[in-house]
Amino acid sequence: MPRQSSDSAPLFPPNFLFGTASSSYQCEGAYLSEGKGLNNWDVFTHKPGNIMDGSTGDVAADHYNRYLEDIDLMDSIGVNSYRFSLSWARILPKGRFGDINWAGINHYNKLIDALLLKGIQPFVTLTHLDFPQELEARYGSWLSPESQEDFAYYADICFKFFGDRVKHWVTFNEPNFQVNLGYRLGTYPPSHCSRPFGNCTYGDSEKEPFIAAHNMILSHAAAVNIYRTKYKEKQRGSIGIVMHAFWFEPISNSRADKLAAERAQSFSLNWFLDAVIFGRYPPEMKNILGSRLPEFSSIEQERLKNGLDFIGINHYTSYFVQDCISSVCEPGTGTTKTEGFWRQSSEKNGVHIGEPTDLEWLNVYPQGMEKIVTYVKERYHNMPMFITENGYGILNKPNLLNEEIINDIKRVEYMTDYLDALIMAIRKGADVRGYFVWSFLDSFEWTYGYTASFGLHHVDNDTLKRTPKLSAIWYKKFIAEHGRTK
Ligand code: NOJ
Repeated sequence: MPRQSSDSAPLFPPNFLFGTASSSYQCEGAYLSEGKGLNNWDVFTHKPGNIMDGSTGDVAADHYNRYLEDIDLMDSIGVNSYRFSLSWARILPKGRFGDINWAGINHYNKLIDALLLKGIQPFVTLTHLDFPQELEARYGSWLSPESQEDFAYYADICFKFFGDRVKHWVTFNEPNFQVNLGYRLGTYPPSHCSRPFGNCTYGDSEKEPFIAAHNMILSHAAAVNIYRTKYKEKQRGSIGIVMHAFWFEPISNSRADKLAAERAQSFSLNWFLDAVIFGRYPPEMKNILGSRLPEFSSIEQERLKNGLDFIGINHYTSYFVQDCISSVCEPGTGTTKTEGFWRQSSEKNGVHIGEPTDLEWLNVYPQGMEKIVTYVKERYHNMPMFITENGYGILNKPNLLNEEIINDIKRVEYMTDYLDALIMAIRKGADVRGYFVWSFLDSFEWTYGYTASFGLHHVDNDTLKRTPKLSAIWYKKFIAEHGRTK
């Protein structure tokens, strides 16, 4: 593995962004401070039964109040970029039906200015799973085409107030993941599922994920269109989308399993990327779903095409994929995805795809990084790419010692190997322009609450004290060796 290139040529391109990432709901806290409105996650976490440890993001890591201390920590690592998301309900508590919350605008202005003062570029996501509750109650969020108008209105405000300093914009974070959990499995808000359980209410899961995705795709296009027509020339930034990207490894060399792995990618990554780059859904989806897949009008198709300046990839793990069209996928280990007729599993004949971790979904398979980056490079004509998230999570078991948390050697090994695999892909020509570790701090890990953590910094849940982990020190050294850009 290439820790150092033989001819001592740089391993990363000039101006490569070495960053860390976070999202507003997961780390800000400041629940209803300074005029923030409720969002869907505020409401969801406050319902007993939705979050494993019964926790909420009300306080989280209190990043809203401690951002200066946090920026100092970032500075001491040496990152030259920070990926964070804006809280929509903090800026527009009632969406386009109400006033701007100026305290929210001021807060993000201060955050952005403080970052730039330290030479850290803001890399900003407009929405990272959050949606103002006022709008959710009014029309049902992403199931309604009205969401497009609200998102465009919100995006315009963000470009207007922050775009003089923000040069990288992301419309959505992992919409491909979000719609499945929100509108099929029901484990994320708005909790729709075909067979109600707990707080989950009935929704037509045969159709809803595709409708929600369709509205998000058109919302993305609307925001990009506003950016390009009103702001880009003056502000000179770029805009992209961030996708949840597993690597799907065919379980055998058979043609059927290879096609199944391709199908799995189509029903996940390509679902959104084909739409916003080629102006159409992947043919595999169309073939299987027929009229369940909404259609783009010809005007929309044109508006969608080339609707990106870069692709953001969140990559953590890989799975084996088996075909379920020509072979019978008996229920067993793994999950059968009836939508696309494949089964996804971590094991084949008792052999794991990589090293398992505490988190049932996270297999350590660094080769997956090289493979997914190469796949995206080939399918999307080597469009600029950022690894917008990569990281290692642990379960905070009650008997875990503080030293074990801080001395996170497994996270260091994971990052070392995944970065090596990324270097391989870059060497083979992938136009990757940045890498962001998830996450800067231990924070609220969605349905896991605070029972799982990914941070380079430990956050004490009682005192909120930050302590750099071994991985933070390792990352600092890595950046010092490979980054030249701050
Ligand atoms: C991806 C999501 O964007 C982020 O919010 C989450 O915490 C990490 N994965 C880890 O699960």
